[in-house]
Amino acid sequence: MSAGDKFTKETTAQEVADAFGDRIKGRYVVVTGASPGGLGYETARAIATQEPKLLVIAARDQAKLDAAKADILKETPAANVKTVILDLASQAAVRTAAADISSLGDVDVLINNAAIMMNPYTQTADGLESQFGTNYVGPWLLTALLLPSLLKTPHPRVVCVSSAGHRQSDIRWDDIGFAEGKDYNKHQAYGQSKTGNILHALALADKYGDKGLVAVSLHPGVISTNLSRHLTEEDFKGFSTFFNADGSAKPGIFKSIPQGAATTVTAAFDPRWDSQNGVYLVDSQVAPDVPEGESDNLLSVPGMGYIYPFAKDKKSAQRLWELTNKITGENF
Ligand SMILES: NC(=O)c1ccc[n+]([C@@H]2O[C@H](COP(=O)([O-])OP(=O)(O)OC[C@H]3O[C@@H](n4cnc5c(N)ncnc54)[C@H](OP(=O)(O)O)[C@@H]3O)[C@@H](O)[C@H]2O)c1
Repeated sequence: MSAGDKFTKETTAQEVADAFGDRIKGRYVVVTGASPGGLGYETARAIATQEPKLLVIAARDQAKLDAAKADILKETPAANVKTVILDLASQAAVRTAAADISSLGDVDVLINNAAIMMNPYTQTADGLESQFGTNYVGPWLLTALLLPSLLKTPHPRVVCVSSAGHRQSDIRWDDIGFAEGKDYNKHQAYGQSKTGNILHALALADKYGDKGLVAVSLHPGVISTNLSRHLTEEDFKGFSTFFNADGSAKPGIFKSIPQGAATTVTAAFDPRWDSQNGVYLVDSQVAPDVPEGESDNLLSVPGMGYIYPFAKDKKSAQRLWELTNKITGENF
């Protein structure tokens, strides 16, 4: 029995952090993408209240990181918070950030939260389609480079923040890059990257579980943040299950930011996952498989609560792992 059994979509990140304070205290936790106004910030803020040994917030904009740190310290002046510049859209920058992060100590918990969503076609510094490169390859490389550090700690954990949007696409094995943009579909590109996050946790659990590493992925819910910055008026009309015609949110679908960050904190600290390595969570519980008939309905609200079969495929997880080794020139 864990406190987490009772968590629901209403539970807040603070309630989760309070429940697992003994698992946060004294540990080195890294949260990526902790700009103010987002889920990463709220995740970091709640963790900071529970006396971690060190909390590193990592993102690409120093001014935003400084603002986030100042806000956290205003609430918890004794917290040991450091900032690290991390640009997930550049493998060279990820390597620098990984060195900076591991120079500060051995990382107990890595929370891969940062992402972009449905932006117009661009490429990363390494020539990858930007959502796949930023949301999946960058965090994969960061995690791989931090593995030696993580595996030195007693109960290492990696969290891969994914999305219900994973249902929009399996890994497009024959054309991950959308023909260099000629066939670009921003919805599918987001879906592919978020399927990548779930398969990443699955592969980590499979490959490093016997060394004590636990990896968990999750969908945080639907929350109004800066993630929607690239969405057009047309896009909002397309999301008619979420929005009314006037652009206002439909009731009962959106979570607040504190509620939205709760599943991430559960993924990072709930002891339940020690014996359920590689799981995908929604509302702080293991998500059920999508039922027959639901799978074609990409905008259904109940559909957001499920995991799709291609995201549970261990062979795919292994194949993607090998492909990512090639993309990054690594051999993990
Ligand atoms: N909000 C939702 O409804 C929702 C639903 C499902 C899943 N999610 C997932 O939840 C996570 C957090 O999203 P959010 O809603 O909090 O979005 P957000 O407010 O836009 O935060 C995203 C964070 O990622 C950072 N980031 C973007 N590109 C980066 C890069 N190249 N290198 C390093 N950091 C980068 C952003 O930095 P900047 O501030 O500099 O841009 C920001 O700190 C994401 O993984 C997202 O896919 C969110």
